[in-house]
Amino acid sequence: MATIIDGKAFSANLRGEIARKVEIIKQNHSLTPGLAVVLVGEDPASQVYVRSKGKQTVEAGMNSYEHKLDVSTSQDDLLALIDQLNNDPDVHGILVQLPLPDHIDEEAVINSISVDKDVDGFHLSNVGRLSIGADGIVPCTPLGSLMMLKDHLGDLSGMKAIVVGRSNIVGKPMAALLLKESCTVTIAHSRTRDLPGECRQADIVIAAVGRPEMVKGDWIKPGATVIDVGINRIENEDGTTRLVGDVEFGSAAEVAGAITPVPGGVGPMTIACLLHNTLQQACRLNHVEIPVERGLHQSSLFEVVSVIISSHV
Ligand code: GUN
Repeated sequence: MATIIDGKAFSANLRGEIARKVEIIKQNHSLTPGLAVVLVGEDPASQVYVRSKGKQTVEAGMNSYEHKLDVSTSQDDLLALIDQLNNDPDVHGILVQLPLPDHIDEEAVINSISVDKDVDGFHLSNVGRLSIGADGIVPCTPLGSLMMLKDHLGDLSGMKAIVVGRSNIVGKPMAALLLKESCTVTIAHSRTRDLPGECRQADIVIAAVGRPEMVKGDWIKPGATVIDVGINRIENEDGTTRLVGDVEFGSAAEVAGAITPVPGGVGPMTIACLLHNTLQQACRLNHVEIPVERGLHQSSLFEVVSVIISSHV
């Protein structure tokens, strides 16, 4: 039976570490990191995410600025708000919750965010930086996934990794991060021939396709590490619903060496990494060094993340 990688506990540790570092820079530099979250419309899932982000931002000792705009807000008005946030010295991170209403050009909005405040890591410049292995801002879900992988496996160099899914938000940046860690990386997608066979060769399987329980236990190489990024709500026979990942957990857990559950795996890491990116950018924008925790084990989570971000192939 596989080891269950506990994302809830991991993210609580990381958030604790971030909160301690925020306290240090408040004391020593009178700097309080600030995260602005912009929500357009009233999508219920987005409202839940935004509330959660605001709560955890405040719990980490940071300032949270929430901008809730009407669904009919024009693109020009949204761009004007982003311009204002780009120029606000108290704001170090800007996140525009996706999806946006159909009348707004998502790409134009994302690329109007200052590159140094783009804590989602979606701006073209940050995407480009990641692809050439330069310093930038790494998207939160892939970063959280990599942190859990490194915590469990240590050095990933030489391992075979497969990323199932080629989205801009998860699949592609995840593949870039794994390549930076010197893995041999396959990106699989809907047109991949013999997907089960491809998966069976991998030491690391990242499932990020958005299809409930698509990856089966007999696709997994014995002992492999499985990171399930999917969050799908499915209906039970009695009409109630439950959350499942992109991996069929029961069968995969019998074969894998380690696996993340859904819920409680990658999900909780995403907001923790958002806070990490906000603290990092608050420090970078103000030319303040991110505090190092004394007395902690040298490879504390935060230092692992910093190495991930700044290491070059
Ligand atoms: N909507 C769902 N996930 C995300 C995310 O990670 N960032 C943003 N901006 N919107 C999202």
